[in-house]
Amino acid sequence: MLDISKIRDDFPILKRTVNGKPLVYFDNAATSQTPQVVIDAIVDYYSNYNANIHRGVHTLSQEATDKYEEARIKIQKHFNANQSYEIIFTSGTTHSINIVATGFSSILKKDDEVIVSALEHHSNIVPWQMLCEKTGAKLKVIPMNEDGELLMDAYEKLLSNNTKLVFVNHISNALGTINPIQQIINIAHKVGAAVLIDGAQACPHIKPDVQSLNADFYVASAHKIYGPTGVGILYGKEEWLNKLPPYQGGGEMIKEVTFEKTTYADLPHKFEAGTPNISGGIAFGVAIDYANAIGFENIQEQEQKLLDYATEKLLEIEGLKIYGTSKNKTSVVSFNIEGVHPYDIGTILDKLGVAVRTGHHCAQPIMDFYKIPGTVRASFAFYNTIEEIDVLVSAVEKAKMMLS
Ligand code: ALA
Repeated sequence: MLDISKIRDDFPILKRTVNGKPLVYFDNAATSQTPQVVIDAIVDYYSNYNANIHRGVHTLSQEATDKYEEARIKIQKHFNANQSYEIIFTSGTTHSINIVATGFSSILKKDDEVIVSALEHHSNIVPWQMLCEKTGAKLKVIPMNEDGELLMDAYEKLLSNNTKLVFVNHISNALGTINPIQQIINIAHKVGAAVLIDGAQACPHIKPDVQSLNADFYVASAHKIYGPTGVGILYGKEEWLNKLPPYQGGGEMIKEVTFEKTTYADLPHKFEAGTPNISGGIAFGVAIDYANAIGFENIQEQEQKLLDYATEKLLEIEGLKIYGTSKNKTSVVSFNIEGVHPYDIGTILDKLGVAVRTGHHCAQPIMDFYKIPGTVRASFAFYNTIEEIDVLVSAVEKAKMMLS
């Protein structure tokens, strides 16, 4: 059992007020909050060893390089990648997906097929559409049901020898559904297709093992896992990363440059052109340590408690409908109240100190499926409390009274 009130002391932002009320932060699926140790790591970098990495012989540069590479190894171990150079630092999940999607434009041919799911975030749809436009490949979609679950029989039927790539999220950002990614990967591999898993929403809740999953690519962002914004990772199997061309040209990603020909650096540098987010990478490593010290089983237990309580209490409000009712879901409650626009509910909740996300959550196809403009989304982290859910529920009741 976690001592939540002690844990909350790790997060300075949780002490602040919003509109004169104590902050109730339920927008964790957009950005999780950052513990003091992670903030300290960023301050320490800029206070004590701010320098460019892999470039200087001077002490500061070597210290920064060592810390950055230590962070890569922490992340490798966390995701259980076989090699540290299979972890590419990026600016976040969107960047990671674009590296793979752009790279595949030199591999895919006309009439090849790629498969996406109906539950994706725009960042795991649009880069592939752009890829299909460039190559003439066809985009197919795994459909979903009313509970927000993927239809696995339909998925199997979509696969053929023409399928080259499948890309699905581990967990839906809009609904919280945990997708059966092991099954999705196993079936795709039977036809020789590679699989990219968007783990942005999964990593705050689950410790993924990329080798046991046998994922070809797995992508994530630090800011969803109690780390800073502007940094993430692309995990790729070595053979795939060697096959893909570099994404950006520039410094650090080369072996040798002449005006006649440039040769590229080995992994991971081939995909890391330019000065990276050094403090962000180091702080990402610290955030991973922090989450592991809390323990993913403890995180899941606390979040399940919050999810069950919130679901039960919110459903007592007449006219409230929850979208995403899979048994297999994480701590996300997406809902609407009959006849009320989600944006208006979100605005009133903010006045009462409660932070939620409203709108289509960068997942318009899901909203189209339900024929709604958007939802109110409350997403919980392990540092949230049952008392905060009581505040949410009474704020929603108040909003309903004012708006309907
Ligand atoms: N993808 C993030 C969300 O779901 C921003 O809110």
